[in-house]
Amino acid sequence: MAVLVTGGAGYIGSHAVAALQERGEQIVIADNLQQGHKASLLGGKLYIGDLRDADFMDTVFKENTIDAVIHFAANSLVGESMKDPGKYYHNNVYGTLCLLEKMNQYGVKKIVFSSTAATYGEPENVPIDEHDRTFPTNAYGETKLAMEKMMKWFDTAHDIKFISLRYFNAAGAHAGGQIGEDHDPETHLIPVVLQVALGQRPHISVFGEDYATEDGTCVRDYIHVSDLADAHVLAVEKLRQGGESAVYNLGNGTGFSVKQVIDAARQVTGKEIHAVVEARRAGDPAVLVASSARARKELGWNPSRSKLEDIIGSAWAWHQANPGGYND
Ligand code: UFG
Repeated sequence: MAVLVTGGAGYIGSHAVAALQERGEQIVIADNLQQGHKASLLGGKLYIGDLRDADFMDTVFKENTIDAVIHFAANSLVGESMKDPGKYYHNNVYGTLCLLEKMNQYGVKKIVFSSTAATYGEPENVPIDEHDRTFPTNAYGETKLAMEKMMKWFDTAHDIKFISLRYFNAAGAHAGGQIGEDHDPETHLIPVVLQVALGQRPHISVFGEDYATEDGTCVRDYIHVSDLADAHVLAVEKLRQGGESAVYNLGNGTGFSVKQVIDAARQVTGKEIHAVVEARRAGDPAVLVASSARARKELGWNPSRSKLEDIIGSAWAWHQANPGGYND
């Protein structure tokens, strides 16, 4: 039995493929390579195409015996989603609908879903737990919530069980040094800060310092990408053991401000890293910090790479070794 990983050539997807590979799983990857990189795949059989292409998906399901899907394929930039929500509804929501219909057609009953803290919006409580209100402040989070809700109804109607993993801020790179984060354009805080450290950008723009936080900059919960990857393997396992549909937060439970991240990067890299305060970015909540107690208890998830310096350090190792990214 194989696990189908959609978006498996992307940043988090490729780390999940590595984790599945380390467990000896059979892996099939479907990726349109819009953001993904062939070179990021440490294993698995790659099919290049789009979830919205029915013929392509028929080929993937017919040529392999798939029992579970891990669904990463989506656009995931908060800022972009505020400028082009249609792109997010089309690729994320409609893409997921196409995938679920194909799963139903081919009798595949398990899906692990790459969701996000952006489903919560501005939180009522910190740390956030899974029972808290979901009220997204950006179109990206709204589409991920719509995808979760769609899966709930496919479970009710077709018995397709889902585990939705709401990540907080993924960062870092695989310990093996072969894979890491390479987006085009790159907008995430840690890789952008490291591009400044490498001399590829003149400064880091700090998007707002008038938030209701200690130093006025946004606070996020940074979680190592390989810890996230491990949670997907555990979630597939849980569904295979007959687990019910569920939603889990994945974070460290500790928040760091934008300024704290920049300071930590200065320490890790030994570089000055010039910072310039600019206007707020649309759609950014002030504070996002997870309670992951439920994932620890029910999935047996135990994130082991939690120190911010180590997360940034693993990313720095990748960026130094691959200053131009994957070059593919
Ligand atoms: N930021 C800057 N300057 C930059 C880039 C980011 O100040 O150049 C700030 C942002 O305003 C934000 C923080 O750094 O306050 C983190 O921003 P990222 O873009 O790295 O990450 P986001 O928090 O916006 O979003 C990420 C993922 C989403 C996910 C979210 C959940 O991209 O998919 O984490 O917390 F939903």
